[in-house]
Amino acid sequence: MSGHGAPIPMTSRKSGPLRGSAVIPGDKSVSHRSFILGALSVGETKITGLLEGQDVLDTGKAMAAFGAEVTRTGDQAWSVHGVGVGGFAEPDDVIDCGNAGTGVRLIMGAMATTPINATFTGDASLRSRPMGRITDPLSLFGAQAVGRQNGFLPLTMVGAKNPVPVRYTSPHASAQIKSAVLLAGLNTPGETVLIEKEATRDHSERMLRGFGAQIETVKTAEGYEITLQGQPELKAQTIAVPRDPSSAAFPVCAALIVEGSEVVLPNIGLNPTRAGLLDTLVEMGADIAFENRREEGGEPVADLRVKASGLTGIEVPPARAPSMIDEYPILSVVAAFASGKTVMRGIAELRVKECDRIDAMARGLEAMGVTVEEGPDYMIVHGMDGDVPGGGTAMTFLDHRIAMSFLCLGMASAKPVSIDDGGAIATSFPIFEDLMNGLGAAISRD
Ligand code: S3P
Repeated sequence: MSGHGAPIPMTSRKSGPLRGSAVIPGDKSVSHRSFILGALSVGETKITGLLEGQDVLDTGKAMAAFGAEVTRTGDQAWSVHGVGVGGFAEPDDVIDCGNAGTGVRLIMGAMATTPINATFTGDASLRSRPMGRITDPLSLFGAQAVGRQNGFLPLTMVGAKNPVPVRYTSPHASAQIKSAVLLAGLNTPGETVLIEKEATRDHSERMLRGFGAQIETVKTAEGYEITLQGQPELKAQTIAVPRDPSSAAFPVCAALIVEGSEVVLPNIGLNPTRAGLLDTLVEMGADIAFENRREEGGEPVADLRVKASGLTGIEVPPARAPSMIDEYPILSVVAAFASGKTVMRGIAELRVKECDRIDAMARGLEAMGVTVEEGPDYMIVHGMDGDVPGGGTAMTFLDHRIAMSFLCLGMASAKPVSIDDGGAIATSFPIFEDLMNGLGAAISRD
């Protein structure tokens, strides 16, 4: 589990042009939800293309601890025999979600309206992330969280014995909060309503509908109002997990900044609630072709063809933040190679990710010779028009996306770039090193 092993220092040296096809692993958000909804449904859910990263594997283990039968049937192929809505059994040990905020927060929601208790923990990164944003709405259903005074993990959720339906307006643009409330609404009689001011990733809604729940989203003056009818019988599904646009972001951005590159990425998910980075890159002047646009498993997908491009900094519209929230670290690397300033505002949520991502990127970019301005909810990167010195070591704070971002920077900077620990990369993109080196990168373990 990430954060539990010895650090893995890594170095990325200037690479030749990146060339070839990058086959990206399955989407992390959809993979977590496939295990959780499979466990809450009746019958056998068959999953292909699952992301076999540590975060998702920890969620699979957790579902087994709550009584589901979770079996690996082949490469990225899994079967889940669910226990049905309300059927979770009490785990006989602590649930360790490792590095996964999505895992722990969705699972807390899924068990909060069943009359069982469960104790959750995670690695040092997860143990420093806010859980009050989840336990507050879950307490409205009648669940109780008992733990440390600051709301951090470890904590024990005491599931509600007689859950009451909730109408909740999310104070943050967070799909994890939305999903935890909707999952808690499953075993609650009546209608659970979640209101979000800005649209966040909608995988939970799409998948709940696919599993047979009655759920609808209406745009209102307040934002988006999502209504779920409680106590449905969820029916097992066959799920082909789309490829992860957030992982694709790394080879896409590396190809843009490494001179002479041309990379094709087949079958990338283009759900509009996830595709903000691609819009931003195109506005910066990126040469990205969207080939064979089609629908797969209810999600829009395309093959991306990316060519190295001269880029110009822009002001990223703050309203776009929820649709590219995980991509700001790698965007800030691209911004360092662009000409002019790239201004990123409305990104306070980055401070409570696997680490404080504004701080981690600002300090790391400075170590590579890049000028960065930052504030509570913004970051401005001063582009160096292709000439980024590099030559430093970035601290990664158990954060996979910080680690991968700086390794991408080192592919195009004048001097090599080191990171203190690449161990966390295995949480979301275990084949990152091999895939990037296969395209022509020069990443090594020190
Ligand atoms: C996720 C939601 C986002 C995102 C995370 C995955 C999800 O977190 O950063 O990587 O699968 O629901 P927030 O809900 O905290 O924005």
